[in-house]
Amino acid sequence: MAFTAIFSTVFLFVFSFANSISTVNTRFPASIYSNEWKSQSLSIANKLYQTKYFTQTLDHFNYNPQSYQTFQQRYLINDVNWRGPAENSPIFIYAGSEGDIEWITQNNGFIFETASYFGALVVFIEHRFYGKSIPFGGKEEANKNASTFGYLSSTQALADYATLIIDLKKNLSAQGSPVVVFGGSYGGMLAAWFRLKYPHVAIGALASSAPILNFEGITSPYSFNDIITRDFKSESESCYRVIKGSWKLIDDSAKQPGGLEELRKSFKICENYISANYLERWLRTAYVNTAMMDYPTPSNVLNPLPAYPVKQMCRAIDEATAAGDTFKGLYGAANIYYNYTGNATCFDLKHESVQFGIDGWRWQACTEMILLTNGNTDESIFPPSMYNYSNQAKYCEDMFGIKPRPIWITTEFGGHNISSVLKRFGSNIIFFNGLRDPWSGGGVLKSISKSVVAIVAREGAHHVDLRFSSEEDPEWLQRVRRKEIKIITRWLKQYYNDMANL
Ligand SMILES: *[C@@H]1O[C@H](CO)[C@@H](O)[C@H](O)[C@H]1NC(C)=O
Ligand SMILES: *[C@@H]1O[C@H](CO)[C@@H](O)[C@H](O)[C@H]1NC(C)=O
Ligand SMILES: *[C@@H]1O[C@H](CO)[C@@H](O)[C@H](O)[C@H]1NC(C)=O
Ligand SMILES: *[C@@H]1O[C@H](CO)[C@@H](O)[C@H](O)[C@H]1NC(C)=O
Ligand SMILES: *[C@@H]1O[C@H](CO)[C@@H](O)[C@H](O)[C@H]1NC(C)=O
Ligand SMILES: *[C@@H]1O[C@H](CO)[C@@H](O)[C@H](O)[C@H]1NC(C)=O
Repeated sequence: MAFTAIFSTVFLFVFSFANSISTVNTRFPASIYSNEWKSQSLSIANKLYQTKYFTQTLDHFNYNPQSYQTFQQRYLINDVNWRGPAENSPIFIYAGSEGDIEWITQNNGFIFETASYFGALVVFIEHRFYGKSIPFGGKEEANKNASTFGYLSSTQALADYATLIIDLKKNLSAQGSPVVVFGGSYGGMLAAWFRLKYPHVAIGALASSAPILNFEGITSPYSFNDIITRDFKSESESCYRVIKGSWKLIDDSAKQPGGLEELRKSFKICENYISANYLERWLRTAYVNTAMMDYPTPSNVLNPLPAYPVKQMCRAIDEATAAGDTFKGLYGAANIYYNYTGNATCFDLKHESVQFGIDGWRWQACTEMILLTNGNTDESIFPPSMYNYSNQAKYCEDMFGIKPRPIWITTEFGGHNISSVLKRFGSNIIFFNGLRDPWSGGGVLKSISKSVVAIVAREGAHHVDLRFSSEEDPEWLQRVRRKEIKIITRWLKQYYNDMANL
């Protein structure tokens, strides 16, 4: 149970704060000491949810004829525990992000689990251009070029969510039900921004691992790789040094006669032709994603992984290098990420995960999501490199024929001087960050006001709090979740109080 100083401070702050309102009359228990929030029953005919579609407007922001086109937006709904409109019982919305919404539910089950405690309706909404929510009749047309991709943006997505939520509440005669919005990663950014832009639709937001400050130089472009470096270094100094030295080792090896063939064999690569570049990118992907998914229990977000996978990687590296075989160590580390199930016969360096909607995200990363993460200091576990925006801009012009707008996100949603801005304007937002997550560098790590609250867990990785809970969850993670539930309980109490005192 090792909390950082900042975490302890926040923790105490929220607790004393919550205690001061525990006298308010409400149907919610005033304290949560166990996992009593966890739903016993979630199942709808043995499924977690029902699938529905909503006819959504293509373009919310102008009135030319093309904008009136529609597409089918998928949403998943679970009403098993909902106490219904008569009690104005809450509606929990998950703001879908860059991927298939069913895949997203598998990795963010916490919201379902809280449903019986809150008597809540749970709705996961799919983000436009991902999964089955594709405009223009399908991916082939929608992903063709900038003319169709142009309708893929965060502002359109937020407007989709508002439109769908308002219509759903009307259909359910649940206009009085408070809405709380949840999201992780890009979905966490959407959740926070949704609360700021649509305060009349959502009473609060839990924004988990939302790097809303990774834009426009607010956060250093070196912080992302600095955190990955720290993750491996804190596991084992020798592991860090081996990985750091491996890039030159691979480059040198590749230059030897027969060296590439050696590498191909050492790493059991399927393709006949490899390059040092491809191999290095493949290894780098393994380290980056493993750092993000460094969860205390086994997971399967992009690939199946064991609990504490960074530790496992470092163990493989340290054991093999102690025996004098560095490549075997690196191969062993790659095996943790690419072959945890043990069924890979050889590795494909061009490996990409299918659920992750890469086409759509590539577009978003070339237009408004200019997240500055590519710099490497001399200390980095990766080769040192300057962050170079013109490289990225050139790639985007070649790829889509458009120029990125790196200052749009801060223009639309803010980010500069966020503390002083949100202190006077925002309310009811939880920013959760796990400090092992490379994205945490761009997160809100300090509470801004009594109701714009940061929860920071030193041991946490990428939106670990939103995952399904398990018996093996460490105490720090249980505490994070209990704290989030307490805060959300408070928002709801306030809402019902305000309603009663109109
Ligand atoms: C996209 O493709 C369509 C044809 O399918 C074409 O009419 C349109 O001009 C193209 N847009 C761009 C930006 O290339
Ligand atoms: C609300 O009901 C109408 C009419 O049945 C339906 O077309 C629409 O899709 C429903 N809205 C949602 C969000 O399901
Ligand atoms: C994957 O793991 C299994 C079991 O450890 C091993 O037999 C197999 O060789 C591995 N595949 C690759 C490509 O390394
Ligand atoms: C790998 O093996 C596991 C059982 O060990 C199985 O459940 C899984 O479907 C296999 N994955 C692939 C990609 O074949
Ligand atoms: C960044 O990349 C561009 C090419 O895309 C190059 O012309 C420029 O010199 C680079 N800048 C730095 C600081 O390396
Ligand atoms: C942030 O605040 C400082 C001091 O109040 C000010 O000088 C600066 O211009 C602000 N930055 C932006 C982008 O608003």
